[in-house]
Amino acid sequence: MNRKLEIIENYKKKIDLLKKHNKSYFDQNNPKISDSQYDILKKEILDLEKKNNFLKKLNLSSLVGFPPSNKFKKIKHLKPMLSLSNAFDKKDMEDFLSKINNFLNNKDKNIELFSEPKIDGISATLIYEKGKLVKGLSRGDGLTGEDILENLKTIKGIPKKIEDVNCPSLLEVRGEIYIGKKDFKHIKGNFANPRNAAGGSLRQKDSRQTSKIPLKYFAYGFGAIEPMIFKTQSEFLEKIYNWGFYTNPLVKKVNNIHEIERQHLQIDSIRSSLDYDIDGIVYKVNDLKLQSRLGSTSNSPRWAIAYKFSAEKAVTKIKDIIIQVGRTGAITPVAKVEPVTVGGVVVSNATLHNED
Ligand code: IVH
Repeated sequence: MNRKLEIIENYKKKIDLLKKHNKSYFDQNNPKISDSQYDILKKEILDLEKKNNFLKKLNLSSLVGFPPSNKFKKIKHLKPMLSLSNAFDKKDMEDFLSKINNFLNNKDKNIELFSEPKIDGISATLIYEKGKLVKGLSRGDGLTGEDILENLKTIKGIPKKIEDVNCPSLLEVRGEIYIGKKDFKHIKGNFANPRNAAGGSLRQKDSRQTSKIPLKYFAYGFGAIEPMIFKTQSEFLEKIYNWGFYTNPLVKKVNNIHEIERQHLQIDSIRSSLDYDIDGIVYKVNDLKLQSRLGSTSNSPRWAIAYKFSAEKAVTKIKDIIIQVGRTGAITPVAKVEPVTVGGVVVSNATLHNED
């Protein structure tokens, strides 16, 4: 065999091997080689290409998803991914309730709301056709997202297949991707907070890198569904939980402003003990027919609102107290504390000059 053919044969063998390992890793969730062995194989392929320009013309490595493309493919959302309007106090929530009642011309009946923690992560949407996960997009600008399917597939607990004959033939599940506070402490990199780290990791060009970071998610809503088989938000979440999706357990039906306030205080009081950041509670009209009657403005639905928490507090341990001398000679005692995430930022020092 001539030298060139030999190189091509060897190159093709490596590409096939890599495809096989991609399959066992991503489709079957069952890697046959270690991460470093995988990296070596990938590097061998790239080195061969570098040394032998003619290999690039075969355009084989692009079939297995590398060298990584500079940009993700852009895909238009089936339905826009909107944002939420905010409430900051009881008065804002009362306004929200009366606006809904006015819009629906509802005089005396309380409207059932479904309350869910607002996870401070990165939103993504998953599209299932006939129960099979076929697309996974980032929010992007809300109208067009990026194709991050391969990265999303690496997240534990995202079903790749839904085995239920009652699953709608088109099902779009939306959720929030996050990194647990504990996991965040162990990952390397210069991320200011878990949210940034989750965003960075989700947008890795190489899904193998994404898979090394312990991303988690909670599903919170839907986009397109055909045929629509759900009547309420709570029923939707229960059903997809049974289909294998992770949904947040801290949810509750509430019927009036008193129950809203009570739920708010309750979740706020356990907020710092949760392993994920939340920055408020989302209250949604539970009945999906009422949701469609209410509709959306250009930015946000009228049937939901994010009731934000005030600045977060957290409890941690003081490890040491040092004395800091400022430029002017002012002396400030500073506590070195066990790192704790507060409002999405890891805090390890706290000045002690101010009793509050
Ligand atoms: S419902 C119209 N529910 O908050 C959008 N959103 O500010 C309906 N989020 O883009 C969103 N937890 O990324 C909803 N339980 C939850 C949520 C949640 C976090 C995020 C989501 C959304 C953003 C809106």
